[in-house]
Amino acid sequence: MSKKLAINGGAKAKTTPNFPMYPGGLEIGEEEKQQVMEVLDRKYLFRYYGPEEYPSKVRALETMFAGKADSKYALAVTSCTAALITSLVACGIGPGDEVIVTGYTFFASCASIVAANAIPVICEIDETLTMDPRDVEKKITPSTKAIMVVHMRGVPCDMDAIMAIAKKHDLKVIEDCAQAVGGTYKGKFLGTIGDCGCYSFQYHKTITAGEGGMIVTQDERLYDRCMGYHDTAACWRPDRFAEQRYEGELFVGVNFRMSELIGAVMIAQLNKLDSLLSLMRRNQKIIIDGIINTKGIEVRPRNDDDGDTGICLMFYLDTHEKVSPFVEALKAEGVGAAGVFDSGIPDWHIYAHWKHIVKKKSATVKEWPWSSAFYKGNVEYSEDMNPKTLELLGRIVHLDIPSQMSEKDCEMIAEAINKVAAVFA
Ligand SMILES: Cc1ncc(COP(=O)(O)O)c(C=O)c1O
Repeated sequence: MSKKLAINGGAKAKTTPNFPMYPGGLEIGEEEKQQVMEVLDRKYLFRYYGPEEYPSKVRALETMFAGKADSKYALAVTSCTAALITSLVACGIGPGDEVIVTGYTFFASCASIVAANAIPVICEIDETLTMDPRDVEKKITPSTKAIMVVHMRGVPCDMDAIMAIAKKHDLKVIEDCAQAVGGTYKGKFLGTIGDCGCYSFQYHKTITAGEGGMIVTQDERLYDRCMGYHDTAACWRPDRFAEQRYEGELFVGVNFRMSELIGAVMIAQLNKLDSLLSLMRRNQKIIIDGIINTKGIEVRPRNDDDGDTGICLMFYLDTHEKVSPFVEALKAEGVGAAGVFDSGIPDWHIYAHWKHIVKKKSATVKEWPWSSAFYKGNVEYSEDMNPKTLELLGRIVHLDIPSQMSEKDCEMIAEAINKVAAVFA
């Protein structure tokens, strides 16, 4: 017999407080302070020079990150958006080129394509809530030059299928790992499988300095071009004022350089990544083990169970209509839960709400970059163009999994889900 739900006056299944989802942010402590104080004491705030010789924190962070990712090159930047724009430019993507991206990602992935003057083509997700490779194939046109995969909510995309498509059609692959730092696919660090991998250190992410980003690549030329673009105009090439060594080395860039203060905080945070991941994965496993056989819910399948970073739990109900009452019942039980897609509730993570893209809004030239004379395609957008994406997201219940939760918290969450599901099944 089902127990009386808390929403109907029954006892709560979870009686402990919920933590906000700032895994690295909540762990900021002495290690970060010490790193930052070193920078301030030395007055060494710029990666290239200061009042006296001193090893750059940003450079040290890049070396550490490349080591952790097992990547040849790593370049620190100001944000993941900056990392995505820089990677696109380095890959030679620009006016007239289409880039395929999913309709379930933070808007910044799509915006970075427009910022690089290219055209986003928005494809469907599959049951894993990551890019559907079958739909990618359908969306390829003569203008397609790249695929931007998004390892959304900590889960790896189907990289074997995507890399095979990219190879067949000679496309670049940029991995948006903003929400999946430390995740893996078949043992490889996410971000090191495509041409460039991009990470975010914004405050909501697993490790953080409030803002910040990183690019990894295995290709020396791409690293060189990322370096040049992120630093105004290849200002710091080995021989700064020499003629270019190859076509495409010297071009006008922007300033996406990371500050030494951010680099210092990130060194301390990167040292905490493994323990944060193992706590979140432990917590996620306890909850999944507790609900895996529960009638009426289906846990989000993953392309590689071991590669999930464990930042959240997402499960399907059988209808969209059940999501809102299910979420309310879970909240009453003391569990922080939310639905994902509702057409009436704006959310920058779902393409149907990206008015700027759907209506081709531009800050300057009308409908730029779609109106560019270089563009030979004819992409159009509408709020219902990817129905599968909306249908899948419309049936999802989402729970953050802060690393700070205890095993007992997780057991209570599983109990609450089971209790609510018993009524809804
Ligand atoms: C999937 C995804 N891509 C890109 C970004 C942009 O990251 P940033 O804020 O570091 O520019 C985010 C940030 O939330 C994100 O979630």
